[in-house]
Amino acid sequence: MKRSFVFIIGLVVVVFLLPGGALAEQGDHKEGRAQYLKHCKICHGPEGKGDGYTHFNPPVADLTVSDIQKKSDKELWESIHMGVPNTAMGMWRFVLSDEEIATVLAYVRSLSPES
Ligand code: HEC
Repeated sequence: MKRSFVFIIGLVVVVFLLPGGALAEQGDHKEGRAQYLKHCKICHGPEGKGDGYTHFNPPVADLTVSDIQKKSDKELWESIHMGVPNTAMGMWRFVLSDEEIATVLAYVRSLSPES
């Protein structure tokens, strides 16, 4: 009797708590990914490799390379928020809320090969 009780508790932990925790961890990325696919993929490509729309000059940034990933969150935030002048990278502050920019930035971070 006591043993089966422990077994049931163990089962509850495994079935409910573990996947729940894992999902919470990916929460930001999941939402950021949805935003990314909606707004950014067209230029930056499905995996952020800068292979979406390839005819801009200067070209679309490859978001997976260390030149981009080594920039601080603040720098990348500003590039997304304010755009990059004289390039096709637009001012997303007119489209995305601050929270949405934060989640999309978290997703951009997850594109780094080292993450
Ligand atoms: C119309 C095409 C286009 C779209 C859509 C676009 N970008 Fe960009 N993005 C660019 C181009 C072009 C550059 C390269 C700018 C440069 O040469 O510095 C760039 C650069 C960047 C950079 C690097 C900025 C830096 O500081 O070096 C980040 C990060 C970025 N984009 C994120 C995003 C995110 C996130 C979205 C979606 C919300 C997005 N981009 C949508 C064209 C686009």
